[in-house]
Amino acid sequence: MTGGTGALGGHVARWVAARGAEHVVLTSRRGGSAPGVAELEAELAASGVRVTVAACDVADREELRALLDSLPEELPLTTVIHLAGATRLAPVTGTDAAHYAETFGAKVAGAANLDALVDGYGVENVVFFSSIAGVWGSGDHAAYAAGNAYLDVLAEQRRQRGVPATTVAWGVWGGATADDEASVPEGVDVDRLRRQGLPLIAPARAFEALQQALVDEETFIAVADVDWDRFIPVFSSSRPTPLFDELPEAGRPGTAEPVGAGEGSAQAPIAERLAGTSAAERDRVLLELVRSEVAAVLGHSGTEDVQPGRSFKELGFDSLTAVELRNRLTGATGTRLPATLVFDHPSPKAVVAVLRGELFPGGSASAAETLLEELDRFEEGLAALAQDGDEARERILGRLRSILGQAGVAASPQHAPGQVVTLESASDEEMFNLIGREFGIS
Ligand SMILES: NC(=O)c1ccc[n+]([C@@H]2O[C@H](COP(=O)([O-])OP(=O)(O)OC[C@H]3O[C@@H](n4cnc5c(N)ncnc54)[C@H](OP(=O)(O)O)[C@@H]3O)[C@@H](O)[C@H]2O)c1
Repeated sequence: MTGGTGALGGHVARWVAARGAEHVVLTSRRGGSAPGVAELEAELAASGVRVTVAACDVADREELRALLDSLPEELPLTTVIHLAGATRLAPVTGTDAAHYAETFGAKVAGAANLDALVDGYGVENVVFFSSIAGVWGSGDHAAYAAGNAYLDVLAEQRRQRGVPATTVAWGVWGGATADDEASVPEGVDVDRLRRQGLPLIAPARAFEALQQALVDEETFIAVADVDWDRFIPVFSSSRPTPLFDELPEAGRPGTAEPVGAGEGSAQAPIAERLAGTSAAERDRVLLELVRSEVAAVLGHSGTEDVQPGRSFKELGFDSLTAVELRNRLTGATGTRLPATLVFDHPSPKAVVAVLRGELFPGGSASAAETLLEELDRFEEGLAALAQDGDEARERILGRLRSILGQAGVAASPQHAPGQVVTLESASDEEMFNLIGREFGIS
């Protein structure tokens, strides 16, 4: 076992010992000086299995070769389990070459070294421990995901060459039980994982799956404990994806019943409360509702920072919080809202328009209300354009001035005829007129 002295190493060592292994070789760079190894070694030895703990950098091919050559002839190598790896988390934008090198060293270079050497020792199987991060992605796991994806492909390549390999891409393991966080890699937020629908895997269940994968001679398999009702809405919140379409347990992406929706339970109260009120009052109440739910999801104590026209992205939303907001609004209003709500309607104001349409479908807005909604969208769009430079903004403002002009409204105060106009006091309209006159542009 490479990485046999790490968090999962102990579990795996006990498992292979219980299944009749005669000699377990635990390797890592620290070998016998890794924390907890002496206890593990004693425990395994007490169960009757021979144990060797060896310091070996699996990324160093010659060190690995020397280790393989040192194995006793009477107990030849039968199975390799590659656990060695380093879990350092960072988003792709914060991942430099040194970070990749560190993440890939044990996992990727180590796997390549094993691939190059172990078949010469007559192994019956090589098992690579990979991660779901490389299968469907995971925030802040950029280099880690890539390193694991290498293992997934390596198993396929080995099988094509006619040599054994099984890669298992794991979800996050629990310790003694699924509630025990002892095996969770540093930096992984377990509470967030659970809210995303990925509870920890109980080791006993993980080993059932591993056993099955080995019996079935799987080449590559992903094993995770997934709460599909939570997972699918988060996973598909920014865009529809067919990845899990064929899994019966997963249902159809985006159709999972929203948590807290409760068949129409909340619809009557808010719709009733607002029935008979003016459109402006409805919007005011709905906006306050949306802003307070946004604040709650983001962990703010008040709604001051939740400006109505500010985009959810700027407010700090991601896939998980997007779905949590959708669920809270569903619970509060009883409406069926899509998991993509905040991506399709990117500000609190825009979501109010959706809620209004859902709660009062018969109450068709007046032409004036419709235009006012359009103006809301215009305002949001204009704010979003701010970073795109002045040119586009000026073109739009020019058009707006022309519309206002057609409606007989001056875009900014005009001076009375005969009043002295200076460059400082001139309105935009007067400036345009002046430039037009000076340069003969009409
Ligand atoms: N824990 C999980 O829930 C989980 C989930 C999915 C996948 N996995 C994968 O399963 C494997 C084991 O996970 P873990 O949680 O047990 O990790 P861990 O606690 O970080 O242990 C990693 C082990 O790899 C060893 N190692 C690192 N670089 C090495 C090198 N160059 N040569 C030899 N050994 C090296 C470490 O010891 P030294 O530092 O002394 O070398 C340590 O023993 C990893 O590959 C991980 O990506 C784990």
